[in-house]
Amino acid sequence: MKSISINAEREYQVKFVEDWHKAFAEISQSHAKTLVIAPTELIAQFNLDSLKSPSVQVIPTPNGEVAKNPEFLLQLWEVCGNFGLTRSDAIVGIGGGSTTDLAGFVAATWLRGISWYAIPTSLAGMVDAAVGGKTGINSSHGKNLIGSFHSPQSVIIDQVFLKTLSTRDFNAGMAEVIKSGFIADRRILELAGDAESNIGELIWLSIEVKAKVVSVDFKESREREILNYGHTLGHAIEKLEDYELRHGEAVAIGLVFAAELSNATGNLSSEVVDKHRALLSKFDLPTGYRRDALPQLLELMASDKKTRGSSLRFIGISAVGKPIWLEEVTADQIATAYERIAL
Ligand SMILES: NC(=O)c1ccc[n+]([C@@H]2O[C@H](COP(=O)([O-])OP(=O)(O)OC[C@H]3O[C@@H](n4cnc5c(N)ncnc54)[C@H](O)[C@@H]3O)[C@@H](O)[C@H]2O)c1
Repeated sequence: MKSISINAEREYQVKFVEDWHKAFAEISQSHAKTLVIAPTELIAQFNLDSLKSPSVQVIPTPNGEVAKNPEFLLQLWEVCGNFGLTRSDAIVGIGGGSTTDLAGFVAATWLRGISWYAIPTSLAGMVDAAVGGKTGINSSHGKNLIGSFHSPQSVIIDQVFLKTLSTRDFNAGMAEVIKSGFIADRRILELAGDAESNIGELIWLSIEVKAKVVSVDFKESREREILNYGHTLGHAIEKLEDYELRHGEAVAIGLVFAAELSNATGNLSSEVVDKHRALLSKFDLPTGYRRDALPQLLELMASDKKTRGSSLRFIGISAVGKPIWLEEVTADQIATAYERIAL
């Protein structure tokens, strides 16, 4: 079995397995009680009820993002109490990023933190959400505003899950893969030309990028910010679209904007900017946004939780694999870059 090691508040492994059932059996055997959290549709699709036993409970969540809400979290804490989960027991999240974010947050908060494991089933979950220790839920004030850094004991990657993933969700996950390529690994961009055939290696390399960054700066004091390439505008677009776009779709637009901004500030060649458009379009990802939305987007970016102080900061690149911090961007440069992605 191949694995990638992550050094966060402690070391843990992202394990690449042939059969996640075996990995799950090992997990459940090492704890007196295991609480599985998974979306209703995936419980049916992957027959997760068959995991149930006197020591394993399977709790369905609503599908997708709606599960990450405070009301549902209250219900899950009740479940933990009724099941009698103690400090030596564990929670396992099986699902996309919404599920692993939620499962991780329940584990972070129940008894001030118990063990948890992530079994991501979406591409976005495998290459991003389940790796890195950020857990959380949404507030009426915004996405992921309630959260905690709480690393899993391990992350189990089994590509079998991708077989049932919709094309839209696969493509949205590719936006994060492509982001990893631009900030850190040219090889990812080469392999993305034939993503279906190269998906195993793409997942591996993308996780390696995230693992390296997170191991240097777990709590995002600076180095980890490079993972936000494309996300400053992306988050604002997600919010403006009332979360109707997939995260990766909004990030795709944000990536082209961040590349254009890198170009408008004199840091990046037009060829590399074009490469963003070419690769993202291959996955039917959007690369532009409404011209008239800029004022609203600027306001939303200014209120993003990742903003520090009053000036807008962006992550850019100066070449493939060379991230830079754009800290003194002028309003003119933003307007120039935005005009180039405006529809
Ligand atoms: N913690 C982090 O560092 C981090 C990083 C990035 C994103 N996220 C979070 O991750 C979430 C986005 O992740 P996502 O795109 O996986 O969303 P998701 O979990 O909402 O999944 C999208 C849809 O795909 C379905 N699905 C998942 N796996 C499937 C499979 N194998 N077959 C069929 N359908 C499947 C889900 O049920 C859902 O309907 C957001 O909530 C975002 O905030 C967290």
